[in-house]
Amino acid sequence: MSIRRLPEHLINRIAAGEVVERPASALKELVENAIDAGAARIAVALGDGGLGHVDVADDGCGMTPAEMVLALERHATSKLPDDAIEAVETLGFRGEALPSIASVARLTVESRVKGADGWRRIVDNGVVAAEGPAALPPGTRVRMEALFERVPARRKFLRSARSEYAACVDVVKRLAMARPEIGFTLEHDGRRVLSVPPGESEPQRVAALTDRELAGNSVVLDHVRGEVRLEGVAGLPTFNRGVADHQFLFVNGRPVRDRLLVGAVRAAYQEMLARDRHPVVALFITLPGSEVDVNVHPAKTEVRFREPALIRGLIVGGLRAALDAAGHRSVQRPAAAALAAWQSEPVMPVAPALPLPVEQRQYGVWDSRPSFMAAPSMMPAPQGRAEVAMAAPPAAVEHPLGVARGQVAATYIVAEAEDGLVLVDQHAAHERLVLERMRRAMADGGVASQALLLPEVVELDETGCDRLETRLEELAAMGLELDRFGPRAMLVRAVPAMLGRTDVRGLVTDLADELAAYDEALSLREKLDHVASTMACHGSVRAGRILSVAEMNALLREMEVTPHSGQCNHGRPTWVKLGHTDIEKLFGRK
Ligand SMILES: Nc1ncnc2c1ncn2[C@@H]1O[C@H](COP(=O)(O)OP(=O)(O)OP(=O)(O)O)[C@@H](O)[C@H]1O
Ligand SMILES: [Mg+2]
Repeated sequence: MSIRRLPEHLINRIAAGEVVERPASALKELVENAIDAGAARIAVALGDGGLGHVDVADDGCGMTPAEMVLALERHATSKLPDDAIEAVETLGFRGEALPSIASVARLTVESRVKGADGWRRIVDNGVVAAEGPAALPPGTRVRMEALFERVPARRKFLRSARSEYAACVDVVKRLAMARPEIGFTLEHDGRRVLSVPPGESEPQRVAALTDRELAGNSVVLDHVRGEVRLEGVAGLPTFNRGVADHQFLFVNGRPVRDRLLVGAVRAAYQEMLARDRHPVVALFITLPGSEVDVNVHPAKTEVRFREPALIRGLIVGGLRAALDAAGHRSVQRPAAAALAAWQSEPVMPVAPALPLPVEQRQYGVWDSRPSFMAAPSMMPAPQGRAEVAMAAPPAAVEHPLGVARGQVAATYIVAEAEDGLVLVDQHAAHERLVLERMRRAMADGGVASQALLLPEVVELDETGCDRLETRLEELAAMGLELDRFGPRAMLVRAVPAMLGRTDVRGLVTDLADELAAYDEALSLREKLDHVASTMACHGSVRAGRILSVAEMNALLREMEVTPHSGQCNHGRPTWVKLGHTDIEKLFGRK
């Protein structure tokens, strides 16, 4: 077997395998070069999702013709002047991107430094195809076309224009978010799809590139631990999404997709979000270059921290503290769709004043439900036992959730706040309060229990009893005191005091069922959110229970002082507010 040195064009093609996977990865390299060149504005134009062409134009420092020749050579970079790779502050440093792209596509580079003439060089699949003078403003323009046209094995892996386009948009968004001081535009097939001006602040840029509603539904964080700083914007748990694409993570200004960071974000939101929901966050971590290795991945999207535990702790702790401080806040407005439905509800014709035949009157003509459904007289009456209507709503600062005015469908509390109408899902809210009270009590040594006047015997199947029996101590710490009572029954002596009147039988039966689903090695503490939800379900504030005005107000006041009370244990909002202006809009007054 003879060993040979590979020719340059083959080396480049091999390197391209790591760096250039699809149009979006080439785009990422080109935009990073524009950023490193000190551009104030970067314009990206794509054809056919990037499969046709990818253009990146910048107004940065530009290159002289001699520099351009070097730039297209392998391992040539202007970014490591003193070999100190740990201290690298630019996005690029490998000196590989341009020659790699040029080896698997047709690459046109045009560049001009201030005060000199422009120059163009075209490299087609590793071979210089043309070169000569070019007219352009100071800066650089790069066009990539015909990616993988000569590399069919790679072309096979390209996806539809639509999904390549989506990946390109994601690249531009992430880099634009990393550099709010730079202006970015993105065009696709001649259509402007994104534009952010130069000189924006970080929160402005994050809001512009994620969701305009994020600003009103997020907390800003800024934490420092030692030499590490964590800044950014974290969406409230209720402002969640079905995919994890709305998480933007940056380390020293470099967008990364790091498992450690993603895991830390997930941990911070645990117990506030259902498994299949994801928060919206943009987190910026700044730390000394010696604390992080950026040279672990050819595409530079992963990093290695010298002290991963510290970084994880900072993210989990920082996010939790910021979200705790947000307290009872949830998404501020009813979901747009619900509002729209409210607006478009057709007005029912008024029932005729004529006397109706008896059976028809029984169900009401206005109610189109078939008669086997509840007749109006059997539906829960609106709970109109209002506060004295004269009482002014309390100042929003004191009582942001307002005073209870009544109850709807025995499930929702209607409250009046100084600035609008508040609707509370009483059961979801109570579930959350129970979880938070339990958490606090567990941290303080245990949940207070309320002894039953008469211990209650609950009959269960034998395996259910066995499961409960192995958890007696843990359940006692949660305020539920029970003992085995023969082969097929449990004797309940006390229940968590915080639950109020409890349906003991239902609670114990449900807990036994739930234990079946838990891994035996798992402590109940780790499942506290589930256990608390189950307990809350059998506590006093169930959906369908009519509450007194005092009970409603007590619930509102407790929500105001409880962390995370804005979302239920599954991440849904526990309350929504319809501001006065929203109400005016509904009535066409605004
Ligand atoms: N838009 C640009 N404006 C000015 N100079 C550029 C531009 N793009 C590339 N260059 C020059 O070309 C060199 C090579 O670019 P290339 O992307 O191949 O490598 P790099 O950015 O140094 O490292 P990496 O491979 O990590 O991206 C750069 O170091 C830079 O000097
Ligand atoms: Mg580069």
